[in-house]
Amino acid sequence: MKIKIAPSVLSCDFSRMAEESKAMELAGADWLHLDVMDGHFVPNITFGAPVVKCLRKATGMFLDVHLMISEPHRYIGDFVKAGADMIVFHLESESNADECIRLIKESACKAGISIKPKTPVEEVLPYLDKVDMVLVMTVEPGFGGQSFMGDMMSKVSAIREKAPEIDIQVDGGIDDKTVEIAAEAGANVFVAGSYLFKQEDYSNGVTLLRTGAEKHLA
Ligand code: DX5
Ligand code: ZN
Repeated sequence: MKIKIAPSVLSCDFSRMAEESKAMELAGADWLHLDVMDGHFVPNITFGAPVVKCLRKATGMFLDVHLMISEPHRYIGDFVKAGADMIVFHLESESNADECIRLIKESACKAGISIKPKTPVEEVLPYLDKVDMVLVMTVEPGFGGQSFMGDMMSKVSAIREKAPEIDIQVDGGIDDKTVEIAAEAGANVFVAGSYLFKQEDYSNGVTLLRTGAEKHLA
């Protein structure tokens, strides 16, 4: 299972997003995680497709776009055009999940589906053979810097058991300790915002996360 480390720009200085993204790329990160929030699906607002388009010009990194918005189907086309490589929408949004997957797959973009902490894992299981990735939220979506919810790990294991090859992403409270717990449960894509951006040496942070995950995923 390929390990991917995905810094979340939510924790960087937004006025220097391109430089910070480049720095994470040079530090050896695999994906750039972009948190789109609409102030409605979650109680916070970040940025939309125009910012993704600018980052697309600034970096060659794989752009992993996490849509925390109420009506993802209305905006998927904009994010595809902006240059997203992966678009993840929430099962709890107001859009139809199959319609979102269809819209994403019309392009070369990869499709991901996410569940919030209160959503039972059974609700996402019918989509495992339709998507490239499942994102199991390990905090309530909306803000960086929250504590990792270890009780989400049973969801990760249940998905891994049913889909040995799928990418399973965890997002929220990932650091050099919790990355091991998540990897042991079967996750292979690790989003980290505050942990990575608070490091003095980004490459050290990326390496610590990767080494932690490798202990459990060969
Ligand atoms: C939260 C976002 C996360 C956030 C994680 O809703 O989806 O991607 O940036 O931040 P940390 O790693 O600080 O918990
Ligand atoms: Zn996220």
